[in-house]
Amino acid sequence: MWRPGGSRTSNFLASASTIVAAALLIGLSQANPLAVLSELPDPPCSATSNRTGTFVDLHSLIRKGHDDNYLVSGYDYNSNFTLNICAPVLSSDNLDFHALSDAHNISAFYQKGGITYSLGRASSTPKFRGRKLILEYTGGSLCPKLDSNGAPVDGKDNEDGYRKGALLSFTCDRELIGPARVSFVGQQNECSYWFDVRTSSACATVKQQPLGPVAIFGIMLVPPPVILTLINLGSPYRYLTHLIL
Ligand SMILES: *[C@@H]1O[C@H](CO)[C@@H](O)[C@H](O)[C@H]1NC(C)=O
Ligand SMILES: *[C@@H]1O[C@H](CO)[C@@H](O)[C@H](O)[C@H]1NC(C)=O
Ligand SMILES: *[C@@H]1O[C@H](CO)[C@@H](O)[C@H](O)[C@H]1NC(C)=O
Repeated sequence: MWRPGGSRTSNFLASASTIVAAALLIGLSQANPLAVLSELPDPPCSATSNRTGTFVDLHSLIRKGHDDNYLVSGYDYNSNFTLNICAPVLSSDNLDFHALSDAHNISAFYQKGGITYSLGRASSTPKFRGRKLILEYTGGSLCPKLDSNGAPVDGKDNEDGYRKGALLSFTCDRELIGPARVSFVGQQNECSYWFDVRTSSACATVKQQPLGPVAIFGIMLVPPPVILTLINLGSPYRYLTHLIL
């Protein structure tokens, strides 16, 4: 508990709170609140566009527990794909992946001719490329060797260590019934695979932050000793120091 004229720690905290308040004043007078928000780290499976400030949160698309994986038809590719979003596929423990010693955290795979091919490891960091939100899985099974015409050779791995990967691109669809529709778009050289995910989760939303701009401006009006007391009381405002320091 903070007491006026207390210990050395209190004095340190008193100056720290003044610095915090000053930093807030200086910082906020120069930066707009949008920029302040977009500089905070995004929670897993969400992303902020640093161009427009758009925030998208995909975490509700993660399949977990007793859910089923996403099953995606390959149509003319003649195999179907199994995948998860931002997380490893569920119940893949007894699968043996082609040319992959470590079968942990596989987030997409397909089976062809009795062989299971990984399309990469889980990533929970979607990112914006321009307006488009994408999620990349890399480090899957080895890609096939290419013949002199650049066509994949059946049953032969490339010797350079190129590995299969998947690129998921997300499209905002507010009208969609159900959480998400995943479709296979195409593949190249049996090495890179593209998927399109239509979902209302890919629509812009409001970033849930412990401190909104209004709260930050509110705190600026509070005298530093009061802030210090709040910090010492272990109130939710104590992370203010984490925010700044
Ligand atoms: C956005 O972020 C990327 C990398 O995260 C960076 O290269 C780029 O310069 C940033 N753009 C702006 C406008 O800040
Ligand atoms: C892919 O899934 C569809 C629908 O479930 C099924 O009819 C088809 O046989 C599957 N294709 C392969 C190659 O397993
Ligand atoms: C699998 O993912 C978990 C959680 O992200 C991580 O802690 C673990 O190290 C990963 N395992 C491997 C073998 O990559």
